[in-house]
Amino acid sequence: MIKKKVLLTRIFPKLATQLLEDAGYEVIAWDQEQPMPYDEMIKVAQSCNALFCTLTDKIDVAFLNRCSHLNIITQFAVGYDNIAIAEATKLGIPIGYAPNAMNEATADIAFGLMIATARKMFFMNQKIKNGQWGSFDPVGHLGLELKGKKLGILGLGRIGMVMAKRCKGAYDMEILYHNRSSNEKAEKEFGAKRVDFDTLIAKSDVISVHCALTPETRGIFNKSVFDRMKSTALFINTARGGIHNEGDLIHAIQNGDIWGAGLDVTNPEPMKPDNPLLTMENVCVLPHIGSATITARNEMARMGATNIISFYEEGKVPYIVNPEAF
Ligand code: GLV
Repeated sequence: MIKKKVLLTRIFPKLATQLLEDAGYEVIAWDQEQPMPYDEMIKVAQSCNALFCTLTDKIDVAFLNRCSHLNIITQFAVGYDNIAIAEATKLGIPIGYAPNAMNEATADIAFGLMIATARKMFFMNQKIKNGQWGSFDPVGHLGLELKGKKLGILGLGRIGMVMAKRCKGAYDMEILYHNRSSNEKAEKEFGAKRVDFDTLIAKSDVISVHCALTPETRGIFNKSVFDRMKSTALFINTARGGIHNEGDLIHAIQNGDIWGAGLDVTNPEPMKPDNPLLTMENVCVLPHIGSATITARNEMARMGATNIISFYEEGKVPYIVNPEAF
């Protein structure tokens, strides 16, 4: 029997290759640290049956039409805004993804950024490196405390639930959220309150973004929204950089419209080293490491490999974005 060929577009955890090869698949893996260039991806995919990709790969309408022979694409991430899902569905290509794998890991980064931003940790650490640790300063660089504050979650789903649990347990925070539908589990377990978007931004001391990047959420945090937030509010984004308008965020912090921001995602990625956010006292930026734990990344690899193997062996994709593609 001819082996099915799977193209891996990045250096993924070894488990992905191991599971695929053990199941009898041939793995063609891009071996450079930087993402596989778009044209190269199309060229190599011509001789492959399945694609194992991630959020740095542009799987747009043109890509899909030039690679419409692919039987299945699986995304090493929970977000899939880099993939033209409607077109894939039209072409009958199922799209797999990796939900739940990084709930704990990403909530840890949101929680960590919240504390780090409230206490100016990245900025103060940089001062030591710059040789600017003078002496204990009774009035310098004072931060905020989080106990009993209001946490506002945009997109209270799987990752938001873990963030809510962390914040409830550590600081007894009051949980507000804005979702299309209500989250009864969160209401029952954390006393979370569903509110409209305007109430969420006006009342929250910490806004934590956990929604997908969609046409409705793209740039939703803009000047008009930052203007209506508390001047002591923290803005935490571990979802996608496209959800906030970066220029408006910089202006809002410089102007004192909000207190500060903790970002694991930026727009574009990577952020340029001369970005003003990187030297601001009340800002902490990380390079999109939400899911970067050994546990999460191995689980993401397992889910991707399982999607491909189950597709060929059982005709179903266990972690699927577009079941209607079948
Ligand atoms: C990471 O950002 C993911 O979507 O999994």
